[in-house]
Amino acid sequence: MEEKNNTLYIDDASTTYLAEKYGTPLYVYSVSEIKDRIGELKKDFLNKYENTTVSYASKAFLTKAMAKLISDEGINLDVVSGGELYIALSAKFPPERIEFNGNNKLYDEIELAVKNNVGKIIIDGASELPMIEEAAKKYNKKVNVLYRVTPGIDAHTHEYISTGKLDSKFGFPIDEVIGEVKKANASEYVNFIGYHFHIGSQLFENDIYLKALDIVFKLIEDTISEIGENIQELNIGGGFGITYTDEKRPPFSFFLEPIMNKINTYFNSKNLKRPIITIEPGRSVVGEAGYTLYTVGSIKNVEGIRKYVAIDGGMTDNIRPALYDAKYRAIVANNVNGSNLETVTICGKCCESGDIIITDAEIPATNTGDLICIPSTGAYGYSMSSNYNSLLKPAIVFVEKGKDTLVLKRQTYKDLVRNDVV
Ligand code: LLP
Repeated sequence: MEEKNNTLYIDDASTTYLAEKYGTPLYVYSVSEIKDRIGELKKDFLNKYENTTVSYASKAFLTKAMAKLISDEGINLDVVSGGELYIALSAKFPPERIEFNGNNKLYDEIELAVKNNVGKIIIDGASELPMIEEAAKKYNKKVNVLYRVTPGIDAHTHEYISTGKLDSKFGFPIDEVIGEVKKANASEYVNFIGYHFHIGSQLFENDIYLKALDIVFKLIEDTISEIGENIQELNIGGGFGITYTDEKRPPFSFFLEPIMNKINTYFNSKNLKRPIITIEPGRSVVGEAGYTLYTVGSIKNVEGIRKYVAIDGGMTDNIRPALYDAKYRAIVANNVNGSNLETVTICGKCCESGDIIITDAEIPATNTGDLICIPSTGAYGYSMSSNYNSLLKPAIVFVEKGKDTLVLKRQTYKDLVRNDVV
């Protein structure tokens, strides 16, 4: 993101040009920024430590173009539903590089995964193994499985995105999982290959991963003594924090260096082969690479109290402020250097008082027709979007070095009635 002639540019494309060409609201992704983040993962993880893999957590953002980009960049893909799996398969993402995560997988989803030779299934609950066995039997396959555990760690992040606590709907309590693993180990339809955990999201501390590792190491020792085999893979999830307002995104190495040192030291000291280490970053790959453009509509000044600047989208394209009280920053994209700053509340057009994108944003004075850019909307923006109030989901444009490509069309009114059976 840079400024030229008082206008905001994203990956060398003018935002006013993009808004004119595609309309607003508009999700814009900088492909260069996504590639930079993946490049950093290669430098600080994949190329630095052998036997490591990265599965991009597609829940953060997925379209066919994104699946293709991830495939071309050579990293793996994590999906958590039949829908995400379908998008990936539609984009011809190599199935053996897909892992299927998520709680309460349904039989149809498992069957879709097994039938299409998905690389791994991460078992999240006791209902899943029998369904995997049934599908494996039907298609004459043997399925690689990991077990997700909750290390009982409380990540200091928003409660809704803290997932590693004992009191969590995800995964198996650590002291119950071996009983489940024994069932998998005895099954002719699955290969038990290891464990998975994910502590939480938008994390800025590295010591909680280290604490979780201590707990998981003990589990690995118990597993070796109970089933007589070391694990082949350990998946430590995602969760690396990014910049929304004034937080500073730590480099991947801030998390991964101490993690890998601890893992390598542990397995060396035990004279055990170190399993493949997998990470599942979502937000940190796409979050800062995505921007949302909106046009200012009505402006309402409640004298002495607050000035509301309404934009042409809102909680339908970015639910995070309403859901998590998430904070964002705003840029007046057609007047980046404007000097007459004022404090305004940027609100959406949904019939909800909570449809506020930013409370008290300090931006140059705006008028109807101005273009507002909200940075850092690349993760969990489009993927959590809705059609509330029957607003249309925005288009998505990928930009790379000034070249813009439409990757997802804006919805039309016809899309809203497409599935109606009168
Ligand atoms: N792996 C697993 C098993 C996960 O549950 C998640 C996120 C990730 C990886 C990726 O985490 P990331 O690197 O993106 O932090 N909608 C929320 C975030 C929910 C995250 C859920 N799990 C938000 O908008 O903040």
